Amino acid sequence: ADLFGPSRKNSAGVELGHAESLDALLAEIKAASAKPFPEGGPIIDGEAMGGTARDVRSPIDNKVIGRVREGDAALAEAAMKAAKAGFAGWNATPARTRAAALRKAAELMETRRGLLLALLQAEAGKTLDDAISEVREAVDFCRYYAAEAEAKFATPTALPGPTGEDNRLVLRGRGPFLCIAPWNFPLAIFTGQIAAALVTGNSVVAKPAPQTPLIAAETIRLLHEAGVPASALHLVPGDGALGAALVAHKDVAGVAFTGSTTTARAINRTLAAKDGPIVPLIAETGGLNAMIVDATALAEQVADDVVMSAFRSAGQRCSALRLLVVQDDVADKMLEMITGAAKELKLGDPRAIDTHIGPVIDAAAKQRLDGHVEAMRKLGRLTWAGETPALGGTFVAPHVISLNSIGELASEHFGPILHVVRWTSGQLDKVIHDIEATGYGLTLGIHSRIETTVEQVTRGLSTGNIYVNRNIIGAVVGVQPFGGHGLSGTGPKAGGPNYLMRFATEQTVTINT
Ligand code: NAD
Ligand code: ALA
Repeated sequence: ADLFGPSRKNSAGVELGHAESLDALLAEIKAASAKPFPEGGPIIDGEAMGGTARDVRSPIDNKVIGRVREGDAALAEAAMKAAKAGFAGWNATPARTRAAALRKAAELMETRRGLLLALLQAEAGKTLDDAISEVREAVDFCRYYAAEAEAKFATPTALPGPTGEDNRLVLRGRGPFLCIAPWNFPLAIFTGQIAAALVTGNSVVAKPAPQTPLIAAETIRLLHEAGVPASALHLVPGDGALGAALVAHKDVAGVAFTGSTTTARAINRTLAAKDGPIVPLIAETGGLNAMIVDATALAEQVADDVVMSAFRSAGQRCSALRLLVVQDDVADKMLEMITGAAKELKLGDPRAIDTHIGPVIDAAAKQRLDGHVEAMRKLGRLTWAGETPALGGTFVAPHVISLNSIGELASEHFGPILHVVRWTSGQLDKVIHDIEATGYGLTLGIHSRIETTVEQVTRGLSTGNIYVNRNIIGAVVGVQPFGGHGLSGTGPKAGGPNYLMRFATEQTVTINT
């Protein structure tokens, strides 16, 4: 496969400034929203199975938008049994055939975008911009991993034979892989994990986040339709307890997890305590993402990039900016520009195309964020608060909180809340040290026009994705492989050339010729 040729082109997306494209897109979303959303629930061997029914509500207005039947221990067992039975056949399927199914899935996602976008908006509260980016990312994951698998898995690698033997390295799937996804990229990350596990020959049991089961079920149906055999891909929706039961299952051969650092630790402990084979965990987790700004930075650009990174997507990206570390000489001016720009953001129903910030995912998330803001207000640290609209949904306005030191930000607050710390010229080494000392390392921004400063920061920090003089969100598949270190994850990077290897086993075959 040509990794840099036509097969590696990223999805084109939609030009929203073009009236005809926008009208066509809105018409597709409207048509998809006019009918009831298809139900969510366990899908095992291609069959919709039982489970306990509950309503799915939208974070936009708390209205019921569909129904899901959630799995239990018996359905988890049934899914694992089916994945075990389906593994050998799929692992023996040529990598090119497996890749072809992903390419077909990418095509279906582009042609069925109306329903996917409607679900991303209604179920996950995404703005149109964010929903479009998410469909693009899911499409990109499918095509990128398809091309990678064709390049690396289709034929064994011939090795040198200095002893007169014929040596080759063969890559295969590991077995039933468990893919556990978060709600904040319920299509892109959910698809990315599954696509990587499948294309490398594993069978999959997918466990989506409880907040987003409808889009998960639609994605599984689409992957089956694209050519992934029903026996190779199974879905069990449910909560964290169901996820824990799946992780503890004796037949799990690998786990791909994206979510909080706390959950990753719990999964790691369960896997470590199990008897039997040592099971690999690929964990992509949270971040205390910082942006270092010095006095040479272009203020207008900083304001734009901070607002985009901290507040857009309601701050619900793992990559989002949590901590602005700004040189004191320019801090007041920068903050005035940032809050001035943030005031212009429109919060509200994300289905309106002029909305910049939609709701946070649910009432529990809103309560946690409001609680943090209130605690900071009591400490006299709240320096700016946007206005939260009086709508029925779970909205949280942007806020700015001042801290005295980087170390004061102890945990990730997953919403549109920006923390600010000031630094003085000559303290850059301490800034670098304090950011590294948080233990997280997902994304980092630098705004400076001094080359040696940029070099000092990039050399001094082990952060996974560093962005210089731009915003820090929206990594593009195959262009900015994404993932962090330490408390932010195990690696390898999603959408990068080393990702698929961790889903595979390697076998060296030596033939005495
Ligand atoms: P979460 O950890 O609460 O849940 C993630 C998934 O794990 C859900 O499907 C959940 O049901 C399941 N789960 C919960 N407890 C479990 C257990 N004990 N065993 C097995 N599964 C369990 O995270 P979330 O709130 O859904 O997502 C937000 C978090 O995800 C944030 O911390 C964010 O930074 C992180 N995230 C990271 C990346 C990345 O690429 N690094 C990307 C997106 C989100
Ligand atoms: N890949 C997503 C981003 O970079 C999380 O924002």
